[in-house]
Amino acid sequence: MRTIMIMNTKGGCGKTTLATNLACWFADQDGKVALADFDPQASSLDWLEARNDYDGVPEIEGIDATKDAVKPARGTEYLIVDVPAGLHGDAINKVLKKVETLIIPVLPSPIDMRAVKRFLTELLESGRVSKKMTKIALVANRVRENSVAWHTLEDFLVEQKIPVLTHLRDSTNYLKCAETGLSIFELAPSAVAKDMPQWDPIIDWLESRKSMPT
Ligand SMILES: Nc1ncnc2c1ncn2[C@@H]1O[C@H](COP(=O)(O)OP(=O)(O)OP(=O)(O)O)[C@@H](O)[C@H]1O
Ligand SMILES: [Mg+2]
Repeated sequence: MRTIMIMNTKGGCGKTTLATNLACWFADQDGKVALADFDPQASSLDWLEARNDYDGVPEIEGIDATKDAVKPARGTEYLIVDVPAGLHGDAINKVLKKVETLIIPVLPSPIDMRAVKRFLTELLESGRVSKKMTKIALVANRVRENSVAWHTLEDFLVEQKIPVLTHLRDSTNYLKCAETGLSIFELAPSAVAKDMPQWDPIIDWLESRKSMPT
């Protein structure tokens, strides 16, 4: 089973958006997928509840990781894990156990970018990441590329060899997905023509050895 976690200590940066859309992408490819939610807000599980109203969309198993052990059904191929904001130190190491791949969404604000730099420093000190047992990459969510904070972060990322996979544009399609329990890959193709290609680098990275432990 492949375990992919979405985490950032900062709130509201797109963790649930990435977790739910990625879970769907794998499910849409006929993968057997589980989505574990460590967040007491339970946004991923709320999304899954809305999804259950649809017939004909691929099923995704929901796991309330705040209450239950993360034990997906037999034969699960992909476990996507949504983690709440605000984790530090040992709490980070604890959730990272068994995680091969970690995606970190980051928003364009200077506050978010400074915070993610601190988070990355903490992550790079964690055993799993420094030993390359967990591979990490960023996804820039709604980034204005020319801001000073972005350049400072970019310099740090280059220095640390942390890839930035893609930029996701600000789009009401993501709000629609959050509300309905669908994903960007399940809306009308004409509506998501600008959004879909922005996910290709994430999928390519996840399918490459670069996102797997070395
Ligand atoms: N690219 C985007 N375009 C438009 N809206 C977005 C985008 N990404 C996320 N959003 C919206 O922003 C809000 C916050 O996103 P999301 O819930 O994914 O963040 P989060 O990191 O999981 O937040 P929390 O820390 O509260 O768990 C949601 O309403 C979501 O639909
Ligand atoms: Mg969330």
